[in-house]
Amino acid sequence: MLTKKDIPEILTAKIEKLSNLGLGIAKLDGYVIFVEGACPDDVLKIKINKKNKNYANAEILEIIEPSPYRIEPLCKMQKVCGACQLQFIDYDAQLKFKKEIVEDTMRSIFGYEVDVRDVVPSPQIKEYRHKIQYPIGETKESKRILAGYYKSGSHELVNIKHCPIQPVYCDRIIEFIREEAQKLGIRGYSEKSHKGELRHVVIRTSNYDKKNLVVLVVNSDKLSNNVKALANSIFKSLENIKGVEVNFNNKKTNLILGEKSELVIGEGYIEENICDKIFKVGAKTFFQVNPKSADNIFRYVREYIVSNFKSPTILDAYAGITAFGICMSDIASKVVSIEEVKPSVELAGEIIKENGIKNIELHCGDAGDFFAKETSLGREFNITILDPPRKGCTQNSLDYALKLTKDKIIYVSCNPATLARDLKYLKERGAEVEYIQPFDMFPHTYHIENVAIIRLSQRD
Ligand SMILES: C[S@@+](CC[C@H](N)C(=O)[O-])C[C@H]1O[C@@H](n2cnc3c(N)ncnc32)[C@H](O)[C@@H]1O
Repeated sequence: MLTKKDIPEILTAKIEKLSNLGLGIAKLDGYVIFVEGACPDDVLKIKINKKNKNYANAEILEIIEPSPYRIEPLCKMQKVCGACQLQFIDYDAQLKFKKEIVEDTMRSIFGYEVDVRDVVPSPQIKEYRHKIQYPIGETKESKRILAGYYKSGSHELVNIKHCPIQPVYCDRIIEFIREEAQKLGIRGYSEKSHKGELRHVVIRTSNYDKKNLVVLVVNSDKLSNNVKALANSIFKSLENIKGVEVNFNNKKTNLILGEKSELVIGEGYIEENICDKIFKVGAKTFFQVNPKSADNIFRYVREYIVSNFKSPTILDAYAGITAFGICMSDIASKVVSIEEVKPSVELAGEIIKENGIKNIELHCGDAGDFFAKETSLGREFNITILDPPRKGCTQNSLDYALKLTKDKIIYVSCNPATLARDLKYLKERGAEVEYIQPFDMFPHTYHIENVAIIRLSQRD
């Protein structure tokens, strides 16, 4: 195998596949080179920027032979904006490469054979992203308001006028906020000096009725007259605004939303239609950014349960607004949900009441603690749905999930690496991974959502 010192600074390489972060991978006698903006089957002249013991990072100097999968990106900002890493790759090829990413991750971390199925495509590949979070800044000299995304690998703000993966109306809302904030003398935030009032704009757009919830995140702990005027002006001047909320975040942090919010005008939620039920989604509520793809996942899990169980008991863990539990309530004898964010549990309560659902029990708190308590009460469920954040489950939660579940764990994950790690842990304790069904929730990015079906009934 070649080592670091054998690798020249500039070389020609053929890209074999994509890494889990969407970088092209070339191999030189076992030595791995990650190339940004590369596509499998590209032949490239590349320049090595950083060498490590077993791998290096490189940039493209010249495309010698373009891959047949290369296409013109939808967005002219694709190369500067860091959000859509794979937009220059044909959509069918993106799906094929994402399946390979899941297979490679399972091979290297899970370590056992597993059936990874073909990726279910997103019903929309444009305008699918229904949650927008734009950092706000300003130009150095003229102090014009900037709103957009950061350049890839940096904190340099790219002013975005049109983003093809977001509903078109969001461009209009953002443009209005840029102009109106300027007129009202509101300053854009600077990360460096921690000065300026407007930090982020978050928009949640409903796929169901196309209404928008706008959240103005400010670097302050109280509502100024100017920001209040901006909020009222957004509500009164634009169509389809459900409400405008101000969120207070004056900490030096990468977190977008602060603890405290104030609804200035309208309602503090949008409505979504999932599995023919209407859900309320607030600013702080977790809800999948691609509602049509999310609907596919909820229906898929529902179909799986209908085909394999009759009136099961279901534990919906890491439940958000209990979307899984509510979608399954009419096919279950009982649903119990656990979620740590209080506003999500409160919204779930409203949805349950409005839909007249009687067989759901909601709990607010840490999933691990709740599992421990339920185990000590001797409770058991036919099915546990685990849908944790990117970091996955703790070993403690997995141990309890094994004790609490009689038949199947359905593990929904947005991070193949932590899914693979947790599947390994479960497998080593007697669980069998039946298969993994990937869904493309995030077209043009390297992200991929997976549903793993895990059988427990044949354990010792
Ligand atoms: C990926 S989201 C899934 C939400 C929901 N299943 C859905 O599909 O809309 C993960 C959820 O887990 C919650 N969460 C994170 N850590 C948790 C913990 N330790 N205990 C309980 N809930 C947690 C988050 O607030 C978030 O709502």
